Amino acid sequence: MKDYSYIDPGAVEFVAISNIEDLPVGERLFVEIDDLDIVVFNLAGEVYAIGDICSHDDGPLGEGEIEDREVICPRHGARFDVRTGKAVGLPAVIDIPAYPVKQEDGQLWIGIPKEE
Ligand code: FES
Repeated sequence: MKDYSYIDPGAVEFVAISNIEDLPVGERLFVEIDDLDIVVFNLAGEVYAIGDICSHDDGPLGEGEIEDREVICPRHGARFDVRTGKAVGLPAVIDIPAYPVKQEDGQLWIGIPKEE
């Protein structure tokens, strides 16, 4: 199944979510922007933002453990690549959104799809 939800950085509006130092290595942040639930991970200095809802059965994905840049849903064990949102382990087969992230002016910014 192909439902790859990566969002083109040119089609988004960046929103500041926190100071960079508020997300140390190994930590995660939960944010809500425009009714979108998003979890932001700092993995070894690389920051990734994905949807915080599992595509299998709406589990709280952001609370899952991380292994090899994959987050494991705490409900039934589905896996998603935090870099792309791609579903890489059953029972999930539908990808989740992955949002572009940038670090600028001491802030973390997440790209949210522009309104059409
Ligand atoms: S809700 Fe995430 S694997 Fe079922």
